[in-house]
Amino acid sequence: MILPIVVYGSPVLRSENAEIDANHPDTKKLIADMFATMYAAEGVGLAAPQVGRNVRLFVVDVTPWADEEPELADFRRAFINPVIHWSSDEESLYNEGCLSLPNLHEDVSRPVTIRMRYLDENFEPHDEEFTGRPARVIQHEYDHLEGKVFTDLLSPLRRTLIKSKLAGFSKGKYKAAYRTK
Ligand code: NI
Repeated sequence: MILPIVVYGSPVLRSENAEIDANHPDTKKLIADMFATMYAAEGVGLAAPQVGRNVRLFVVDVTPWADEEPELADFRRAFINPVIHWSSDEESLYNEGCLSLPNLHEDVSRPVTIRMRYLDENFEPHDEEFTGRPARVIQHEYDHLEGKVFTDLLSPLRRTLIKSKLAGFSKGKYKAAYRTK
């Protein structure tokens, strides 16, 4: 089921997100719905608060980049209760966007490599290193679980320059090619 995507300005994107218990009945369904919603919006990552669910879960599918990076050909995953416990000092800039901030793109600096503990969709624990584009998408989605969005990471000057655009999201002044709320 395709769910509407919550747009910037909603308190849902700033709320605390609870860990998911393995006995939680609808986790599989939520994960399937989040993948469907992400694909419908042509995104590469989606976090649960973006579909109005304040739980620590996000999905990532970076296979659209497999043309350039063949090792990403099967990188389609769900991450539950993730904890980033190491980040590289080395950072890189990347032009990011977010389904909750339609048509806004800004260069964001982030660590190139991270290590993260998480549960997969079968609630199996992992501790894994990610680098390059997967690390980029994972950090972006992880921020959503911390109540942050990518524009929070911009310089004060840059944020001032996009202030009216950000204010416009709350007032419904945006166009999205997918269902929002
Ligand atoms: Ni986002």
